[in-house]
Amino acid sequence: MLKIKNARFVKSILDAREKPKPALLEIIFAGRSNVGKSSLINSLVNRRNFARVSKKPGKTQTINFFSVDDRFYLVDLPGYGYARRSKTQQSIWNNSIEDYLINSRELLILFVLIDSKVGTKENDQQLIEWLDYYKIPFQIIATKVDQIPRGQVAARERHIRESLGLASDKAIIFFSVKDGTGREAVVKYLSALLRQLE
Ligand code: GTP
Ligand code: MG
Repeated sequence: MLKIKNARFVKSILDAREKPKPALLEIIFAGRSNVGKSSLINSLVNRRNFARVSKKPGKTQTINFFSVDDRFYLVDLPGYGYARRSKTQQSIWNNSIEDYLINSRELLILFVLIDSKVGTKENDQQLIEWLDYYKIPFQIIATKVDQIPRGQVAARERHIRESLGLASDKAIIFFSVKDGTGREAVVKYLSALLRQLE
């Protein structure tokens, strides 16, 4: 099983040519602003506010690399769908993130986070279409599952699967930093991916 001993912040970039060295596998977290990307990274490395978290959307504004045991990077992306950003700012961000994702040879997996309560929005659907087009491997994580009644989880899963056109065999991981749901599932998922490479 994947063990995370030593996690450290390495670098923030906005230009894919400035990726940190050495090149290591990248595990990347994407999703709308405020969906819980930074919180999920903190939960994985067992540290509070390691990747900075905020109640206000738009907290993460650069592509942030965290090295885990000098074995791989966890990469925290700025969120999308944050209306209070100017159009120019949005497109600069979008272009540099797209450029980074398309050109990363080290990309192991992109986790796409969807808020369990909010559900999928048009920009989530666009991201999934875009990932399919560029054949970028992704896995959906539905966050903040503590905010919906247990009885609604199955219906939420169906909604996410249908709205994103996911294959029925593609599992969605439900996650909560509040009660620990799904943490082990994410760790197992990553362990399996890393094992395949060894
Ligand atoms: P940006 O950096 O703005 O793109 O946001 P982000 O996706 O990194 O979200 P962040 O981790 O900063 O979390 C946003 C808010 O959601 C914070 O107030 C978190 O405490 C809260 N949050 C994150 N995960 C959970 C969760 O599992 N359950 C609940 N109830 N709240 C959560
Ligand atoms: Mg963030």
